[in-house]
Amino acid sequence: MIFHKPILLNEVIEGLNIVPHGVYCDFTFGGGGHSRKILEKLGAKGRLVAFDQDEKAIENVWDDDRLILIRSNFRYADKFLRYLGIEKVDGVLADLGVSSHQLDVDSRGFTYRDRNELDMRMNRKQKLNAVDILNTYSESELVSVFSGYGEIRNSKQLAKAFVRSRMTGKIRNSSDIDRIIGTVIKGEKNRYLAQLYQAIRIEVNDEFGALKQMLGFLENILKPGGRLTVISFHSLEDRFVKNLIKKSDVEGNISTDIYGRQIFKFREVVKGVVVAGKEELYQNSRAKSAKLRIAERL
Ligand SMILES: C[S@@+](CC[C@H](N)C(=O)[O-])C[C@H]1O[C@@H](n2cnc3c(N)ncnc32)[C@H](O)[C@@H]1O
Repeated sequence: MIFHKPILLNEVIEGLNIVPHGVYCDFTFGGGGHSRKILEKLGAKGRLVAFDQDEKAIENVWDDDRLILIRSNFRYADKFLRYLGIEKVDGVLADLGVSSHQLDVDSRGFTYRDRNELDMRMNRKQKLNAVDILNTYSESELVSVFSGYGEIRNSKQLAKAFVRSRMTGKIRNSSDIDRIIGTVIKGEKNRYLAQLYQAIRIEVNDEFGALKQMLGFLENILKPGGRLTVISFHSLEDRFVKNLIKKSDVEGNISTDIYGRQIFKFREVVKGVVVAGKEELYQNSRAKSAKLRIAERL
């Protein structure tokens, strides 16, 4: 089984505008598809520092003196770079979300096809998993997860159904979820399930927290002219990235200088988002909701 097919590969490489002796970061190594291509463009003096929090992704590493692969959440990447004596880098890539491996392998408990215990941890050293969330979060906390991350229309009703169900037994797997959602929706449920599983996964891995922390230190680790490339799969993720590029602040607050003029720290290299073309979509349905933004540090 293929670990992961890299998405928007050529577009990312073009966006990074790789200089052969440069230093680059791949924050989401996964199967190493993007990393491999970055290394192809780098010369003997170039360096690539890659990260992944999943031990299975780390097993994909290969022997290359120019590559350092660190098993960590990318939210700590600035600290690792400092430790390595790297002050600034020429470009970064974050290909957010999950790998095909994580979705496809039973026992990782990421999808509704998987009948094992729900898990969804990218980093299996972490304690909190999906079962903990569904069985211990208060009703209002569940509403926040379902509406905030899944944009589920009847989040309150759904949270109530979860709380009611756990009074008679622990919620453990996707059969339990099927039964619970059967009480709150009628008819076609695939999209609903996809939104629900995505919301739980985002909470388990604190994906937005990690993303905001990483976006927050990019201005410090990118050289002037250094490139930022981010592929996101969720509208809120994309909004954080867009805010950083256009307003220099992930939350979208505009900062101004003493004369009241807006401070710009990034410049859009490509206006708006880059999406997969027909051919890529034909070959890889997972590219469907991918949005790539490319910017340059000013
Ligand atoms: C979409 S895949 C990346 C695929 C990769 N670009 C490739 O070509 O194979 C996302 C990967 O990022 C990792 N990941 C997601 N969020 C992370 C985070 N906050 N810190 C470190 N790794 C993360 C996941 O474990 C997963 O392996």
